[in-house]
Amino acid sequence: MTRTILITGGGGGIGRATALEAARRGWAVGIIDRDGESAERAATEARRAGARRAWSAASDVTDEQELIDAFGAASTALGPVDGVTASAGIEINAPLPQMPLDTWRRVLEVNLTGTFLTVRTAAQTLRDAGRPGSIVCVSSPSAFVGFAGGSNSAYGASKGGVSAFVRAAAIDLAPHGIRVNAVVPGATDTPLLYFGLAGDELEAERARLKDAAARQIPLGRMADPIEIARAATWLLSDDASYVTGSHLVCDGGLMAKSANDF
Ligand SMILES: NC(=O)c1ccc[n+]([C@@H]2O[C@H](COP(=O)([O-])OP(=O)(O)OC[C@H]3O[C@@H](n4cnc5c(N)ncnc54)[C@H](O)[C@@H]3O)[C@@H](O)[C@H]2O)c1
Repeated sequence: MTRTILITGGGGGIGRATALEAARRGWAVGIIDRDGESAERAATEARRAGARRAWSAASDVTDEQELIDAFGAASTALGPVDGVTASAGIEINAPLPQMPLDTWRRVLEVNLTGTFLTVRTAAQTLRDAGRPGSIVCVSSPSAFVGFAGGSNSAYGASKGGVSAFVRAAAIDLAPHGIRVNAVVPGATDTPLLYFGLAGDELEAERARLKDAAARQIPLGRMADPIEIARAATWLLSDDASYVTGSHLVCDGGLMAKSANDF
């Protein structure tokens, strides 16, 4: 069944891959990103990949009014929306004693408040149109376990919040026929992992992460964003019609494995 979906953070990484996977299914896609150029690039790629329609807008998920305006414009451009993926997110790490309050607030603002505003706007859009729908949020293993490398308190707290919010939102929205779930990507090869790095530094970090993944992740590698996108697209589809309030873990076995070998 064809769908019309909106994706925040759709200009990059997992969001862009979700737009392309939806496009391959012939769905209509609306791409929202604070970086308008990357959003439009992803929309162009989606058109080429077979999207029934593709539309983009520059909008920040932490800005309530920008998001409301973007959802309104998307409905006008694409027709009634029936799915939303909240993929906009950032990761800024620092050891706890040195964690600046500004960093803590910014990570919580984008990852948690941005997810809340996206899901609330999506719910209002669906309810006003009298339509059922599916909303997919993006959590992280850091919502459930501490990362061995540390420095992850703000990001982990934001994703723990997202996971609790997904369960609560699923209960609130079930009477409206709106499902709310999360994908839980493990280490996924996207620009998020190389924030602030370029050139040789970026390549060195990619090599370090590939090596760490080979040793620590049961499947022996990082995820390609398309592997997370397929899970998100399944949750958006009617194939997941009885799934709500749940987490679909796509982490190559990371959380299934304990470091304890005695
Ligand atoms: N890459 C991973 O290993 C990984 C693992 C677990 C969870 N995640 C989560 O997946 C989601 C997507 O991450 P990604 O890896 O694709 O990152 P990414 O950096 O490749 O893409 C994120 C996109 O979000 C956009 N964005 C950031 N802040 C925004 C804002 N305030 N408003 C609108 N758009 C904004 C960026 O411009 C970018 O296009 C995030 O929530 C991230 O926390 C990623």
